[in-house]
Amino acid sequence: MENIILTGDRPSGKLHIGHYVGSLKRRVELQNSGNFDKIYIMIADAQALTDNFDNPEKVRANITEVALDYLACGIDPNKSTVFVQSHIAELTELTFYYMNLVTLARLQRNPTVKAEIKQKNYELSLPMGFLTYPVSQTADITAFKANTVPVGEDQLPMLEQAREIVRSFNGLYGETLVEPKAVLPENKSCLRLPGTDGMAKMSKSLGNCIYLSDSADEIKRKVMGMYTDPNHIKVTDPGDTQNNPTFIYLDAFASDEHFARYLPEYACLEEMKAHYERGGLGDMKVKKLLNAVMQETLEPIRLRREELAKDIPAIWDMLYRGSEEARAVAAQTLSEVKKAMRIDYFSDRK
Ligand code: TRP
Repeated sequence: MENIILTGDRPSGKLHIGHYVGSLKRRVELQNSGNFDKIYIMIADAQALTDNFDNPEKVRANITEVALDYLACGIDPNKSTVFVQSHIAELTELTFYYMNLVTLARLQRNPTVKAEIKQKNYELSLPMGFLTYPVSQTADITAFKANTVPVGEDQLPMLEQAREIVRSFNGLYGETLVEPKAVLPENKSCLRLPGTDGMAKMSKSLGNCIYLSDSADEIKRKVMGMYTDPNHIKVTDPGDTQNNPTFIYLDAFASDEHFARYLPEYACLEEMKAHYERGGLGDMKVKKLLNAVMQETLEPIRLRREELAKDIPAIWDMLYRGSEEARAVAAQTLSEVKKAMRIDYFSDRK
């Protein structure tokens, strides 16, 4: 069997450091590992429209933003096919057939969808498109016969749902689709990076994200204003490192080399954490280190992004080439699906 990756993001905003450690960084490593026969990275505009149908301009504007974020982080269009979801009409057709294999109750049980319904106040006016987006996500994955889906932790329920649909399809119509598996980041702190305000999740509407495109000044301002341990009032007080976003970010980003460079009095993060927990280490010093680490990590990404942003038509060209290539692959899968379902009535007429 071929090793194929499919993954993607909704273009509802620029990507932030939660996307970076939660999924993007891993994708670039997988891309460069040479272990995959094909890699598809999709900008999920049709999915973004399921909760932004009243604001298509926002979705449109963010397609190039997300593409710039990808390329700046090291996604290489010569190794990965980057494409736009809505260009692939076959995905919509697959979604329609998969819809028969899922019940309303099952969709309503999906924990990610459930949380989003609540967050968006959709309880009383739930758009069907939104409720069924896990089905369309199954179409995205299966259209490319992807066996590997590198995503953040919040996407696990989508993958579970996809596997169920695949098993149901293959059981009814014969072995056709490939069952995908999720690949999560190895570092536990990267699974879900909290917001700078200590809220569980980074979200644009909460204004608690550090973006990949943030300037050096913005990064510094956000790091210096981060929420820490509210009970760590005096420097001498013992502090908590576990629910403290500054330490969670250091867990996700800092290496021993960073300590050697910026704060050699500690050999590693564990030593610094022990000091904070004992008491006697101030938040300012932690934030200064975190700022140095974040600046070092994000500067090359930002500079590459600024360079790429000078030629937006080239970004659209890349997306068009990728989308045409992806479309041919999805069309092939769709014809296999229709054959398996015995609805390929006219396939011999060409
Ligand atoms: N749901 C993903 C997000 O919220 C985007 C996405 C759409 C996706 N289709 C996918 C991710 C298929 C992985 C595989 O960003």
